Amino acid sequence: MRYILLTFTLLVVVVVSFAGFRGSKFRKPPLEIYADMKRQPKLRPETTDAIFRDGHSSQLIPEGAVARVQPVRLGNQEIYPWQDVPLNTGRVTGTTNFVETNPLPLTAERLAQGQKLFNVNCANCHTRIADGNPVAKRIGAMGVIANLHDKRIVLMPDGEIFNTVTYGKNNMSSYADKLSPEERWAVIAYLRTLQLSRLATVDDLSETARAALPK
Ligand code: HEC
Repeated sequence: MRYILLTFTLLVVVVVSFAGFRGSKFRKPPLEIYADMKRQPKLRPETTDAIFRDGHSSQLIPEGAVARVQPVRLGNQEIYPWQDVPLNTGRVTGTTNFVETNPLPLTAERLAQGQKLFNVNCANCHTRIADGNPVAKRIGAMGVIANLHDKRIVLMPDGEIFNTVTYGKNNMSSYADKLSPEERWAVIAYLRTLQLSRLATVDDLSETARAALPK
């Protein structure tokens, strides 16, 4: 038994001394048992190389190539995802303050898009009318699903809701990978109409709608 231990210890010492310091104790030739893909046949940018006909390793973008990232058009602006603007961040440019209102213009199509996305992505927890309560009661364990009609959330700046949808909060996960910034703002616009549906007064109705109300 003692010899087995001794042999084992010696073996460990030998292996570590050869393999453990490869390249750091001896410069030539570094003993490599696994090369770990340190050297790869690859083209470095901006060098000459004979693989391509023009001899450059970097090639120009072929004509007619379509960019993977398309800008969002807002008025006459083109907004890319890496820009620090309210559409992407929910915050006033250059500050950490949330924007109060939706940067996207409100249109019927936008609301319809928001309704569809809300019902697909949010209603499963918050319910289609956004009060969250029936679900919370039914599944018990998730009894903390926010009621989106709470005064706190009604008063919350749009940018802060955007932040919650983008990064998630506690049991609610992030929607950044499922909804583009534009889609997130559409959902928020729709959420605001859900909230208004409980807060609107008769005076908010048009003349004709008011006349049609049951007396
Ligand atoms: C998996 C269930 C689930 C889904 C789906 C879900 N939420 Fe939530 N949401 C929660 C829970 C749970 C909370 C409460 C988080 C907390 O404060 O602990 C919450 C909280 C919120 C809040 C309040 C945040 C705050 O600061 O208090 C907002 C606003 C909200 N959700 C919007 C949305 C929107 C919009 C969607 C769809 C894009 C969505 N949620 C999808 C579970 C969900």
